[in-house]
Order: sequence, then structure tokens, then C-alpha cells
Amino acid sequence: AASDPDLVARALAAKAALGDKVFVLGHHYQRDEVIQFADVTGDSFKLARDAAARPDAEFIVFCGVHFMAESADILTSPQQQVILPDLAAGCSMADMARLTQVEMAWDAMVEAGVADSVVPVTYMNSSADIKAFCGRNGGVVCTSSNAEVALEWAFDQKPDAKVLFLPDQHLGRNTAVLKMGLTLDDCVVWDPHRPNGGLTTEQLRDAKMILWKGHCSVHGRFSEEVVDELRATIPDIQILVHPECKHEVVLKADLVGSTEFIINTIEAAPAGSSWAIGTELNLVKRLAAAHPDKRITFLDKTVCYCSTMNRIDLPHFVWAMESLVAGQVVNRIEVDPETERHALVALERMLALPG
Ligand code: 13P
Ligand code: SF4
Repeated sequence: AASDPDLVARALAAKAALGDKVFVLGHHYQRDEVIQFADVTGDSFKLARDAAARPDAEFIVFCGVHFMAESADILTSPQQQVILPDLAAGCSMADMARLTQVEMAWDAMVEAGVADSVVPVTYMNSSADIKAFCGRNGGVVCTSSNAEVALEWAFDQKPDAKVLFLPDQHLGRNTAVLKMGLTLDDCVVWDPHRPNGGLTTEQLRDAKMILWKGHCSVHGRFSEEVVDELRATIPDIQILVHPECKHEVVLKADLVGSTEFIINTIEAAPAGSSWAIGTELNLVKRLAAAHPDKRITFLDKTVCYCSTMNRIDLPHFVWAMESLVAGQVVNRIEVDPETERHALVALERMLALPG
């Protein structure tokens, strides 16, 4: 489908027919065949803001995954309709924290007498009802580009504050230890599949960070061994990774940061420099193609795309757009009003953070 000229022509025709009525957002991990039709590209933070900045667009076609489309729906006005071209484009990390599990964890914290000092912080990569849980309980949403300020905000909310960080243990740990000066001993992991999260009451009381046991299946693959091998073969190579990578990998890297940070770093890098990048493969390939004067490799020996991001392909995009031209809205993502109200509180707290 990547080079199917018929589909490309149909996508162009549908876009032209819809004009300003449609606004197409594309996450950096999307396929080339789809991202070429995006009006704006970005990481999940930028796209959430971009969606809110186009109140005139009747339809927002979100080329990304389900939690991003939900956030766009929450941040846009009720008459704007958000469309996800394939409803199967979920996120395995977001699925690792279910509301019932989080409520059970919270009850256990109440029982242990610590809930009053806990501030919940959820990564953008979570369902709308987890964001709403944070909104209802004095918490905030963060992304990989503002996790540090969000944690600073959370620790300032209460004396002796603790953070419950959802759902990505790696982003939580990497930010706490590398940016906030906490130690690994300050962090415990809540495992939703074990009684009481696998923790004792004492561990809950002593912890500064309670990390939810979730991870990204894509970024979790990068390993210390490959970092060592690349350094041995290419001595001047710089290792640039996303904070969803494991702590041990991040410790061995030269630079760590969000998707936007990775792109900006490569754009500013001098010609002739060598890089190994630990993030989603569509983005790494695009960066390599855009910077032929730099040596850019993927920080893994196997081919590994985010399979759910890749579900948004050109046939699905064309179907969603042509349906709109025909007056039919398919695959609308609509968060219920009660969830939306509370999730918006947590999202607005994030948007009000400094920086
Ligand atoms: P960012 O877009 O915040 O960099 O997150 C990466 C990611 O995994 C998105 O699914
Ligand atoms: Fe989810 Fe990871 Fe894919 Fe992002 S890259 S959508 S966190 S599975």
C-alpha cells in the first residue's frame, strides 16, 4: 500500500474535498504512507495542544493511537468529532493500567494509611478513565517532555508527598532518579497482578515513588548489550534514547529525551556524527532518510515497529476520509461527559505547568 498511487490520489482528493473542515494530526511514529497527509506532526503533547488550537475544524482525523484520540476529544469542543482510522490502534502500555486495578491499589493505600499523601501522576499514554481518576484525586497528566516539571508539581502539593506514577514504570523511575535526585530505593513497583501490589505496608509507607508495573513493548526491547556492541564497533557513536527505555539502558546512553527532543537533537547534530537511536522504528528511519550526512542506526538488531501505531495504514486512512466526504463519520472516539470532565482537570493542570 505504501506506494499504491491509486490510494495516494484518493487520499489527496478526499483531503481537497473536505478542505478546512478536516484537520489531520500525525504522531511521529506513524508510517510514511500516512504521515505525508498530516497537517501537523508531533509527539503526544504537541498533538494534544495542536488539536485544541483548531476549534474551526469539524473533524479531527487522528493518525496515532486510541489514548491520543481520546485526549484530543477531551481537549476539543463537543461539536468537533475525533476520528481514529482503525479502532484496533490501541497501546499495550495504556492497557496495563485498568481503572478497576488502579482503584484497588488506591483502596490498599487508604488501608495502609498513606493515601492522604499520595499524588497520582499519569503518563499521557493511559486511558481517559485513568486521567479522570487523577483529576478526581488531585493529580496530573504528564508526557515524556514534561515529566520532570509534573513530578516537581506533584511533590509540592503536600508535605511528605508520594507519587503514584501510572502506567510506565520506566518513565517514572528514569525521571525520579535522573532528574529529581531520588534513589532507586525511594521507588517501589506496584504489580496489579499480585495481592497488595506485591508490597508490604512498610514498603508503601517508606516509598517516595510508587511505580505502576507497566512498560512499552517497543522501548522495553532496547538492551545494554546492543549499546556495548555498538560502542565497541563505532567508537564515536552517541546513544540517544527515549525515557520509556529501561533504566539500565538509559544509564548507558549519552542523551535521553522525548520524541521531540530526539528529533531536535538529530537536527542540530553536526554532519558526520554517528548516532544510535532507541525509539520507534518509523521515526528512526525517517530521521536517517532526512539526514544522509549523519550516520543514524536503530538501537536494536531486529525490526521492531509499534504494531498498533502501524495499524493506521493508507487503506484505513482513505476509508475514514472518503467516508467523511460521503457524509458518514466512522470510528468516532467519544469520551463520556463525566469521564471527560475529570480527565480535563488533570490535563489542564498539565497544560498550566511551567515550561
Ligand atoms: P511521546 O509522543 O510523548 O514522545 O511518547 C512516545 C510514545 O510512546 C507515544 O506512544
Ligand atoms: Fe504504546 Fe509504546 Fe506503541 Fe507508544 S510506542 S503507542 S507507548 S506501545
